[in-house]
Order: sequence, then C-alpha cells, then structure tokens
Amino acid sequence: MTEKIKKLKEEKNAVILAHYYVPAEVQAVADYIGDSYYLSKKAKETKADIIVFCGVRFMGESAVILNPDKKVLMPDLNADCAMAHMVTEEKIKEMRSKYEDLAVVCYINSTAKIKALCDVCVTSSNAVKIVEKLPNKNIFFVPDKNLGSFVKKQVKDKNIILNDGYCPVHAEITENDVISSKEKHPNAKFLVHPECEEAVVKLSDFTGSTADIINYVSQSEDKEFLIGTEDGVFYELEKENPDKKFYTVREKQVCFDMKLVNLEKLYDILKYEKNEIKLDQEIINAATKPLERMLELTK
Ligand code: 13P
Ligand code: SF4
Repeated sequence: MTEKIKKLKEEKNAVILAHYYVPAEVQAVADYIGDSYYLSKKAKETKADIIVFCGVRFMGESAVILNPDKKVLMPDLNADCAMAHMVTEEKIKEMRSKYEDLAVVCYINSTAKIKALCDVCVTSSNAVKIVEKLPNKNIFFVPDKNLGSFVKKQVKDKNIILNDGYCPVHAEITENDVISSKEKHPNAKFLVHPECEEAVVKLSDFTGSTADIINYVSQSEDKEFLIGTEDGVFYELEKENPDKKFYTVREKQVCFDMKLVNLEKLYDILKYEKNEIKLDQEIINAATKPLERMLELTK
C-alpha cells in the first residue's frame, strides 16, 4: 500500500502532510510530518497540485484557506476535533460588544467559520509570542481554556479572557496520573502539551507543542521521558531517539479522530480525488486574514 501511494503521489503531483497524532504507518508515507504550525506553513508554501491532509478537519480547512487554488483532500472527512466546536459565534459577538479594543485570538483548532470572526490565529507553538506582540490590552482567547491559561501565565500585562473549551484527550490526563507515573519512573523528565489542565502543566519539566516536545527530547542529555500528549508522537520520538525511553502518563492517550486516518483511505481518496474540503468563498476571504497574520507574526 505504501509503494502504491508513493507512485500515485508522484503521478498526481500531490503532497502528503501528516500530523504527529495520525497512525505511524501514515506518518511513514508522508512528505512532511509536523505540528499544526509547521503543517499550515507547508500547506501555504507547497507547489503541489493536490494536498492530502492526514489529520483532523480544521487542519484541512486551514490548508484551503491558506492555499485556495489547491485541491485539499482528507482521508476521512469525519475526523474532526471536538475542541474546534467549543466556542460559539454569539459568544464572540457578545465579548466584542463588551470591550472596545478586544482582540479575539483563535487557536487554530477551531472551525473555519469561527476563524472568520477572529483577529489572529495561533498554534500551541506560537501563542505566547503572538499574544505578546498584539497592541490590544483585552484578549478573548478561544476555544481552549488550557492553552489560554498557559498564555495568561506568561503574558502578565494583558487582560486575557478565557473561554470554556478544552481537548477531551489531554483533559483526561490528571494530576494523580502524573504523580503516580513519576513514582514509577523517578528519573524521567515530564514533558507536556499546553492543552493539558493547568494542574498537570504545573508538574512538567517542559511544556510545548508536539514539535517542541520532540525537539526538546532530541536536544536533551536525559534518557527517560514521561510524555503528556497523544500517543502518536511516540513514532517520531522512538525513531529519532533509539537510545532513549518514553512512557505514557495514562495507559492510553488516544485521539480517536486522528486514528480514523489510515493507508487504505489515503490511497482511495488520492486515486479517485475524493473527500475534497470545500468552503464558502466568503468564509475563505474572512478567515485568510487571521491565518496570514499568524504566519507573519511568527516569522
Ligand atoms: P500541535 O500540533 O500544535 O502540537 O497541537 C496538538 C493538537 O492537538 C492538534 O490537534
Ligand atoms: Fe482536537 Fe484534542 Fe484530538 Fe488535538 S488531540 S485533534 S485538540 S481532540
């Protein structure tokens, strides 16, 4: 299947982008594997005619917004991110009416419709840097309360208002899980994604995006790591660091939507050019500005 996909990809001048959370065999066939920021940059820059996005829906939508002339296909259109739906248009409008100088900062894990109402997008790797650069005092951070509170801790001179969204996968990791895993692996460094609860983040040796966690491990002299994010990152961690040991905090840390992506679906949609992401032109126009601004402010 891998060979068939590679051949088809050449024939059609397609590029395969994969998030670290999709199954290992899908990551293995991808041209680029990365975190949300890296993949959105690659989607913007590509010269390919077709982008196959192996991830969840908001990622494919962002690729369409950043590169509307390309055909963006997804192996499974049902692969969605629960958090992306955890803020409403009404809530954003209500907050805008309360604060005159409000900037609505939108985690990229949100629907295209929500992005269209926001001032700037961020990912877990650039959120602090971008919020620091905004001229606005009042910030409404949507949809993730956990990434929002991580930013709030570091950007003290702004009034950061949180929304009640969260990632159900990262929220499952509890303080007690971390404490008991640390007891089992006393020499392990604890690395965590900022989508985890504040109490969990507090116990970490390092907090960052999936790519930041992977980079941290590569540069570290330590040999054992407790990983506070989705299990998919183990593929890259183990491939790049055969001399190091990695442990989950819970028995399983799985985003089932990411696991809907598989090689059979990938082959099928590429062969028949199915599952194209389509968005209203109006939404594309309005959502381009916050996404482009994110790329600009991250430079
Ligand atoms: P990053 O890719 O920015 O680390 O975010 C993780 C995630 O939950 C993607 O859905
Ligand atoms: Fe969404 Fe969480 Fe899955 Fe990432 S891990 S796609 S934030 S549900």
